[in-house]
Amino acid sequence: MKIAIHHRENSFSKWWLNYCVKNNIDHKVVNCYDNDIVQQLEDCDALMWQHHHISPRDIKFAKQLCFSLEMGGKAVFPNFRSSWHFDDKLGQKYLFESIKAPMVTSYAFYSKKEAKKWVDETIFPKVFKLRGGASGDNVRLVRSKKEALRIVRQAFGPGFGQYNAVKNLKERWRMYRGGLTTWNDVLRGIVRLAVPTPFSRMAGKERGYVYFQDFIPDNDHDIRVNFVYGRCFAFRRKVRSGDFRASGSGVVDFDMSNIPQKALSIAFEVADKLQLQSAAFDFVIHNHEPIIVEVSYGFGPSEEKLEHGYWDADLNYYPGKFDPFGWMVEGMIKSINTNTTIDERE
Ligand SMILES: Nc1ncnc2c1ncn2[C@@H]1O[C@H](COP(=O)(O)OP(=O)(O)O)[C@@H](O)[C@H]1O
Ligand SMILES: [Mg+2]
Repeated sequence: MKIAIHHRENSFSKWWLNYCVKNNIDHKVVNCYDNDIVQQLEDCDALMWQHHHISPRDIKFAKQLCFSLEMGGKAVFPNFRSSWHFDDKLGQKYLFESIKAPMVTSYAFYSKKEAKKWVDETIFPKVFKLRGGASGDNVRLVRSKKEALRIVRQAFGPGFGQYNAVKNLKERWRMYRGGLTTWNDVLRGIVRLAVPTPFSRMAGKERGYVYFQDFIPDNDHDIRVNFVYGRCFAFRRKVRSGDFRASGSGVVDFDMSNIPQKALSIAFEVADKLQLQSAAFDFVIHNHEPIIVEVSYGFGPSEEKLEHGYWDADLNYYPGKFDPFGWMVEGMIKSINTNTTIDERE
């Protein structure tokens, strides 16, 4: 039994490799960008790769490679069930509607005419999102019909860039002033005004659809629940000042007594129904109940998030440090041993 791991700095792979070394698990480091990657994996039973939504290379083929290997019978992280909807909020709308998961009411239109008709009839504010993006980058509040019509015209006209250098620089400045990033990071943001990121050059414009959600007011935090192979860990993120977006604010609350048990049970239920390996759910509170705004198989790994305990599916809480990346490796081993490409939890 051998596990292949694609290594990328600042990704899950550092922890996967540590876990394999510590536990004597046979593994090899591979480079998924190699043309003969499939041949290189012939002596392996599994591939683990935390591919990234703003890597210009990953977005071209990472899902296709992973799903192909899964079709060929290998265990893969992330697998199809966990990641076909990665960085795809449109996909998530239909997915959660199909299983009647408690999600913020969402609206998608694929023609200007349909979109304008909806704008005419609906009430505001609403939240406009591109299908991809993270850290709140492509999420904004739409306060009026006039503003919504402008968005619709842009969506079915020139489209939206996925990287806004001015917004990005303002965000770096906010982080710097809050002591959340370095001066060098701000300088990099200034350079980005003149030199577009490889991702923005590659990704092109988003156009031909519009996606909105009902705006759920009065949330000074969102709730992030990370499901990983039958366990959940969680924290809250504070919204930026004068803003409704928590994702990417960098201000995190690790007081576990603030995590609604209902959010945990929804995460377990949805992950179980969809047989997910890993799922980071963002929740907001609506009428005293948590509802999902989006999900992602991947999440930003950091030591501080791995110190505040986790829950099992019966909502028993286990305080202290834990290693969700080890759970992922164990999940792969279980899939290999039981010859299932998806994790079959009992
Ligand atoms: N429909 C909504 N109503 C109120 N707040 C929302 C809504 N959708 C998102 N948010 C807030 O905006 C943040 C970013 O939205 P999200 O859909 O998670 O996008 P991203 O992929 O950028 O994280 C969330 O963390 C949440 O705080
Ligand atoms: Mg989010």
